Amino acid sequence: MRIGILGTGTLATALAAAWTRAGHQVTIGGRSPERAELAAAASGARARPLPQVGTDADAILLSVHWAGVADILEAAGAPAGSLAGKPLIDPTNAVEHGIGVLRTQPGRAIAHHVADHAPGAHVVKALHLFPSSLWAAPDSSPPTVAMCGDDPQALELVGSLVRDLGGVPAVLGGLDRARQLEEVAGFVIGLAFAGHDPQSAIPAVPAAAAGSTRP
Ligand SMILES: NC(=O)c1ccc[n+]([C@@H]2O[C@H](COP(=O)([O-])OP(=O)(O)OC[C@H]3O[C@@H](n4cnc5c(N)ncnc54)[C@H](OP(=O)(O)O)[C@@H]3O)[C@@H](O)[C@H]2O)c1
Repeated sequence: MRIGILGTGTLATALAAAWTRAGHQVTIGGRSPERAELAAAASGARARPLPQVGTDADAILLSVHWAGVADILEAAGAPAGSLAGKPLIDPTNAVEHGIGVLRTQPGRAIAHHVADHAPGAHVVKALHLFPSSLWAAPDSSPPTVAMCGDDPQALELVGSLVRDLGGVPAVLGGLDRARQLEEVAGFVIGLAFAGHDPQSAIPAVPAAAAGSTRP
């Protein structure tokens, strides 16, 4: 697959490297061409100017600080429709550092903000919960990557990219579930910074049998 990555930071570089290892062609771009070249050199991806990152990509990853979402989508031409029809993976966390409170309006997810600035793109909320280091050296027990989105084909494609990272995709529903997924990240971040192991704060509940509709 051809994957375009908007953003040149830690997560962008880790996922570029992991998808390159899995055999995908990855292009990467950010507001600094120099940092794009560094991220490309570190990951085996190819650096490109922002307007070209998404043009021939089968999927796009938006991996910037949440406050930069509108700027980078603008620079990539997304408001004019450059990403229309493409899966757009949103792993961003609009979370108050160290506290975990979401910075978006009540009821709104940063994923909705992403969708607003990329008309026609098929936004999939995914990959926001695990640290980038996991994708460099996946655990022996594959992580379950909860995701949501409105387009079935985009969810299928992103699910296959999650499998290529060593994860197991789990679709929770449409993009209206994005706020819930983002709150989970805030919950985990809040507990971790308060000195608690987030995993110990979640009950070990056995998976329900397939087809069961009761919790
Ligand atoms: N790192 C993780 O483990 C992890 C895990 C899950 C989710 N996430 C999420 O993934 C996103 C990226 O995280 P990160 O750790 O990779 O951050 P990072 O290393 O600090 O990189 C941030 C990226 O955002 C760009 N950026 C910031 N403001 C911008 C703006 N106004 N316009 C354009 N680009 C801008 C930066 O560009 P410059 O270099 O030019 O400043 C850089 O490419 C965040 O939303 C984070 O919540 C991170």
